[in-house]
Amino acid sequence: MFAKNVYSERRKKLVSSLSTGIVFFPGNGNAPMNYTSNVYPWRQDSNFLYFFGLDYTNMAAIIDLDSGTEHLFGNDVNIDDIIWMGPQISTAEKAALCGVENYHPYHEIKELISLAVKSGRKIHFTPPYRAENKILLSTLTGLPVENIKNNASVELIKAIVALRSVKDELEIGEIEKAINTGWNMHTTAMRMAKQGIVEQEIAAAVESIALAAGGMLSFPAIISIRGETLHNHYHGNTLKENDLLLVDTGAETAMHYASDHTRTTPVGGKFTTKQKDIYEAVLETLNTSIHAIKPGVTNYSNHLLAATTLTSRLKDLGLMKGDISSAVEQGAHALFFPHGLGHMMGLDVHDMEDLGEDYVGYDDEIRRSEVFGTSFLRLGRRYEPGFVLTVEPGCYFIPALIDQWQGANKFAEFINYDKINEYRDFGGIRIEDDVLVTRDGYQVLGKPIPKSVAEVEDLASE
Ligand code: GLY
Ligand code: MN
Ligand code: MN
Repeated sequence: MFAKNVYSERRKKLVSSLSTGIVFFPGNGNAPMNYTSNVYPWRQDSNFLYFFGLDYTNMAAIIDLDSGTEHLFGNDVNIDDIIWMGPQISTAEKAALCGVENYHPYHEIKELISLAVKSGRKIHFTPPYRAENKILLSTLTGLPVENIKNNASVELIKAIVALRSVKDELEIGEIEKAINTGWNMHTTAMRMAKQGIVEQEIAAAVESIALAAGGMLSFPAIISIRGETLHNHYHGNTLKENDLLLVDTGAETAMHYASDHTRTTPVGGKFTTKQKDIYEAVLETLNTSIHAIKPGVTNYSNHLLAATTLTSRLKDLGLMKGDISSAVEQGAHALFFPHGLGHMMGLDVHDMEDLGEDYVGYDDEIRRSEVFGTSFLRLGRRYEPGFVLTVEPGCYFIPALIDQWQGANKFAEFINYDKINEYRDFGGIRIEDDVLVTRDGYQVLGKPIPKSVAEVEDLASE
């Protein structure tokens, strides 16, 4: 945890940006895997971590916006719990750690909330993503469970987004710790990219590094020689000479700040000419978009810059043709690059995605595109100092998408289908870095993970 004043300051800022009512923060409980006591890895809710820092199950908190009081709810352990789990700190001690004055047994939430419901006060909560918290909110508020999400407080969502979007030095320090663990994970994976290795052996090595650093993965690892499948979590393929191994993985620190990088490595240590051409196109796209980052620029325009850079390189290679800006405007590049340039990163790898992508990534000025490809961009709005985001362009050859577009003769003025079909087995390349927006530009965070052709080939040949 950070010092308690960090959390009380954050709550003070939250209170000052909200009007009236009570704010309810249900923390997370354990999530059963196959029976109640056999659970998925424990993960606290990120909003709860941001405002209270308490990494314990079955807690909740209330901030009363009108009286200014703060309340923490949790159950102290009994002797049975101590026998199985060892001694635990009390709710009073937890409240002291985050600077909350009032603490109560968990069941007293019911009393406080029903009092607020009876007096018609506004109850602010964020959109719940776990079934248990949807049921809890439904029980407490009397709203049907299927309507809970729609009753989340937009005022609260916007206030949290405003606070969590801008990372302070303590948070940036934590993110850099996660990235340095990520450096270790990625360089290990690149060295392991040898013929005969099975993807799951690399997955095991990568995850063990995150665990050994005191945290866990920031999302299920993508480690695949079929990198054209964007979120490929199958790890059963055996690597062969000249495969491209795409590794998209990151760590969480013990305090749950994330890293998220992608590197693509030639199995055997040497890119073929075809692979090197596409790799350099993606690398140039990455570098161009990183250099464009400074306060005031929109990530939306940076996404289009990435699409333009990639399209122009693909035109040089004979895969695309025609007017580059018309191709990008109409979305023809999305055959190769069907996802967004990146997303916010912090306590969540896709930071604050539980609050709603459009609240985090868009605003009254910058609206989400409806064009296929660009519509998947998670972050569109103007950069501000303190934003931490990923930049992750890619180029993929997805046979099913190629067939669908070619069958419809889609964008025939921009796409050379004959040439593309020479790449049907190519796979995919993505390169991803984590970047801080500074007062006058950007900083690529953490220890640099090798990414030039020469650096990648050197490491993969070790
Ligand atoms: N979780 C994949 C990515 O955003 O990079
Ligand atoms: Mn990633
Ligand atoms: Mn990412």
